[in-house]
Amino acid sequence: MAEELIISPGEREEIYHGLITQIKALIGDEKDTIANLANVAAALKQTLNFFWVGFYLVKGDELVLGPFQGPIACTRIQKGKGVCGSSWELSKTIIVDDVDEFPGHIACSSLSKSEIVLPLIKDGAIVAILDLDSDKIADFNAVDQKYLSNLCEWLVTVI
Ligand code: SME
Repeated sequence: MAEELIISPGEREEIYHGLITQIKALIGDEKDTIANLANVAAALKQTLNFFWVGFYLVKGDELVLGPFQGPIACTRIQKGKGVCGSSWELSKTIIVDDVDEFPGHIACSSLSKSEIVLPLIKDGAIVAILDLDSDKIADFNAVDQKYLSNLCEWLVTVI
């Protein structure tokens, strides 16, 4: 994988488009799970400057913190708990405009205001969760969901 991403400033949709194309090209045929998740977290954080970007990995009956970029975060999340555990339990993407309004939200930082969580589904089973936090209220929408879903669908082929 080359060490540099070349992303022109622009609307978020344009940035996603360029970023995801480059991530796919740059990871190429690398199959190491930790390496690929780590670089995807770094690429999203570096390019879109979200507050926190990372993965939780399904290990037995809980989620365990995986590669991430941002402040330290809680290590284990039970199924059905918080936004991540709910996304896992319901097997669906969850967008939270205001984390204070989400019952049971797990606050790793009081600076996090909105959140999007997507399940990574491989061979019909959820293997990980992608979590992005923003320090702005209602920072995620259908555009984020569209590009991040595409990224997750591809990512399960290289982990
Ligand atoms: N807020 C998440 C916990 C993970 S941190 O945001 C990194 C949740 O409610 O599941």
